[in-house]
Amino acid sequence: MKAPQLPPFNCQPQPYTGPSAAEVLALRKAHVNPAIFHYYKEPLMIVEGRGQYVFDERGRRYLDAFAGIVTVSVGHCHPHVVAAANAQNDRIQHTTTIYLHPNLPAYAAALAAKMPGNLKVCYFVNSGSEANDLAILMARAFTGNFDVVALRNGYHGGSPGTMALTAHSTWKFNVAAPAGVHHALAPDRYRGPWGYDEPAAGAKYAADVSELIGFTTPGKVAAFIAESIQGVGGAVVFPDGYLRDVYATVRAAGGLCIADEVQAGFGRTGTHFWGFETQGVVPDIVTMAKGIGNGAPLAAVVTTPQIAQALTSRIHFNTFGGNPVCCAIGKAVLEVIEREGLQANSLRVGEHLLAGLRRLQEKHSIIGDVRGHGLMIGVELVRDRATKEPAKAECAAVFERARELGALIGKGGLHGNVLRIKPPMCITASDADFLLEVLDAGLGGL
Ligand SMILES: Cc1ncc(COP(=O)(O)O)c(C=O)c1O
Repeated sequence: MKAPQLPPFNCQPQPYTGPSAAEVLALRKAHVNPAIFHYYKEPLMIVEGRGQYVFDERGRRYLDAFAGIVTVSVGHCHPHVVAAANAQNDRIQHTTTIYLHPNLPAYAAALAAKMPGNLKVCYFVNSGSEANDLAILMARAFTGNFDVVALRNGYHGGSPGTMALTAHSTWKFNVAAPAGVHHALAPDRYRGPWGYDEPAAGAKYAADVSELIGFTTPGKVAAFIAESIQGVGGAVVFPDGYLRDVYATVRAAGGLCIADEVQAGFGRTGTHFWGFETQGVVPDIVTMAKGIGNGAPLAAVVTTPQIAQALTSRIHFNTFGGNPVCCAIGKAVLEVIEREGLQANSLRVGEHLLAGLRRLQEKHSIIGDVRGHGLMIGVELVRDRATKEPAKAECAAVFERARELGALIGKGGLHGNVLRIKPPMCITASDADFLLEVLDAGLGGL
């Protein structure tokens, strides 16, 4: 069989003159956190990127279908984003919020304009974990309640507070976790008790949140937090009506509803700018990171003026939050999404990919489930469609083969058996066809 061919691309990487991958790996082993892992048996070194492609040190081009873990939203080194960063870097890089700088409120106004309802006040921080920590603090300060409901199969970060919200044993250290966090059933129609054939699945999963509040909390909660589509958990899309019912339950128990848009936001779902909009709800607090900065360390929390008042009783300060360079980048990212119609492209290419993956599902029995929304896609591999035994080793083999053939994808789910496809939103239909050929070859080789 002919090897799949990457679509042509008019860009030559610059010659690479730095240390070899082996040298970089050796230095990393000697001096860098040993708990971080690298993808692939032979680690890949990426030294340049353009649009939806990256180049290794030998100049080989790959389709980046994982976007640096769902972070490069508008494409690697997008000229408008690079120009905005360079222009600001040239003038002043850091001031902090104790002085005025025009970039911070200008960006906050642009971001607030993308939000529904009264979500008009922005806080800027550096990472998704920080954003979620701040959101929980805000909910507790505003409501006077303490307990928080999160979801199993959710990922919200690696700080002590967000590790408690996260519900994957793989990401949780065996230390005393902050108290007051309760995990409801993941509304996962593939693995959970109510499947795709259950029309009332949304209400049934939502009823578990009501039970959880009734049995495990004082009946009052500070917040409910959920990713709008579970990312690390393998692109789990909630049944219709789920968030609507949960939000009603949580609000009746005095709590605020927090949407973690770290992966699903900024147009990636295609049909909507924010993932929560696919469920027809308006949260009280929205957290964002990753795609917001196209790779810059930028994250945000957006809430209503009333809720924001709760944090004025003490000083809330973040040294890098609102940094002029990051704000320039964030604003440029919003402009690119708008000008280049990247939300519409996510819908178009995402539907094309999903249709192709469903065809592959008919051909390869190892594909148990194909799910997603726009360019947030998961392909769950199982050894047996009846028992749903996770096909972890097989998933790793397809993932390795895809790299050999020139496509970088992600892996996820508690059992590591879900292929994650979340490319920069500038990916084309030809790239999608290439990726489908790669996956077909990888699955065919099992
Ligand atoms: C949904 C979600 N929330 C929060 C985070 C934490 O973000 P960060 O790694 O920037 O702290 C992540 C990171 O993967 C995420 O996927």
